[in-house]
Amino acid sequence: MGKLHAEKNTSPFATALAEWFRAAARDLPWRRTRDPYRIWLSEIILQQTRVEQGLPYYEKFVERYPTVKHLALAPDDEIFRLWEGLGYYRRAQNMLRAARIVVEKYAGRFPSSYDELLKLPGIGPYTAAAVASFAFDEAVAVVDGNVARVLARFSGYAGAINTGSGPKDLQALADRFLDRRHPGRHNQAVMELGALICTPRNPRCEICPLKTGCRAYAEGRTGELPVKKAARPVQNRRMDYLLSIKDGRLSVQKRTANDIWQNLYQFPLLEGLPESRQQAARRLQMEFGLKKIPVWAGEATHLLTHRRLLLRFWMTAEKLDGYEYVPLDRLEGLSFPIVLRRFLAGKKISPNFEF
Ligand code: ADE
Repeated sequence: MGKLHAEKNTSPFATALAEWFRAAARDLPWRRTRDPYRIWLSEIILQQTRVEQGLPYYEKFVERYPTVKHLALAPDDEIFRLWEGLGYYRRAQNMLRAARIVVEKYAGRFPSSYDELLKLPGIGPYTAAAVASFAFDEAVAVVDGNVARVLARFSGYAGAINTGSGPKDLQALADRFLDRRHPGRHNQAVMELGALICTPRNPRCEICPLKTGCRAYAEGRTGELPVKKAARPVQNRRMDYLLSIKDGRLSVQKRTANDIWQNLYQFPLLEGLPESRQQAARRLQMEFGLKKIPVWAGEATHLLTHRRLLLRFWMTAEKLDGYEYVPLDRLEGLSFPIVLRRFLAGKKISPNFEF
């Protein structure tokens, strides 16, 4: 690791950063509270999405579940419904499990230390440090993508930040720079700098409070740093959905497998059918035992972290064996993956749908 520019906690790094943060920080609702529950909730949501998109979800959750006890008592499906659109439902599931543990094991009071927080489901080093420092001012440094970028550039760290010793080195850097007297504010400030100034592309170095000490800036290397090892290649997955509508009811199924969209609703599905629509339609007809070939209803693609889903939709008026049938006016209450919800909305599959 290269020599550090700032060694002590009253470093020029921390001082310049704090001054900038005072003037430039966005006024965000989770910054106006020290309630660990609300801070934790915001962090779980913000791991999924950007601030602008996360805000309405945060407001919705806080309003509906003002305390961790309220959240712990909520039925799983209600949470998934509210989470709809954020994606990666395992996070919502872990969030609920954590809330229930806080209520049962900690009598509804959030654990107040990094080490205890880390024991809860869905709370890794980043979230534990965020909650411990923002809510309790524990002197632990957060490292998320924004922070890693700021530190790698500032220090000229040229190793890959996401593999090998990268994460550990970045944590060590973050710990060295941490302002131990104001860890919560400091952590938020580094993250904010990464979000507003030290952006992945076209960073606004001219107005950066840290530019005088920044190695990447001095060496003209902000475009090269941080170095990241390329992500896993994206895998294509074709999914053919058959919507059977009979007597004002639609065929649905809850996904149970340890796979994408666990516990969300979908329609009868076949995976891995041929690309040819004609052949796919025949396979659907055969596998579901239909008298008539199903009708083409549209397609969609959907990107997940490591997968590209190629979805095709088909319809039939024949009844299928072995599926749940839900009245069309109750679809609104079920939690669907957003891409399926959009299909339903686009096709106006609502109570007055006619096949
Ligand atoms: N992204 C993740 N956590 C955040 C926070 N507390 N404030 C702003 N952006 C964030």
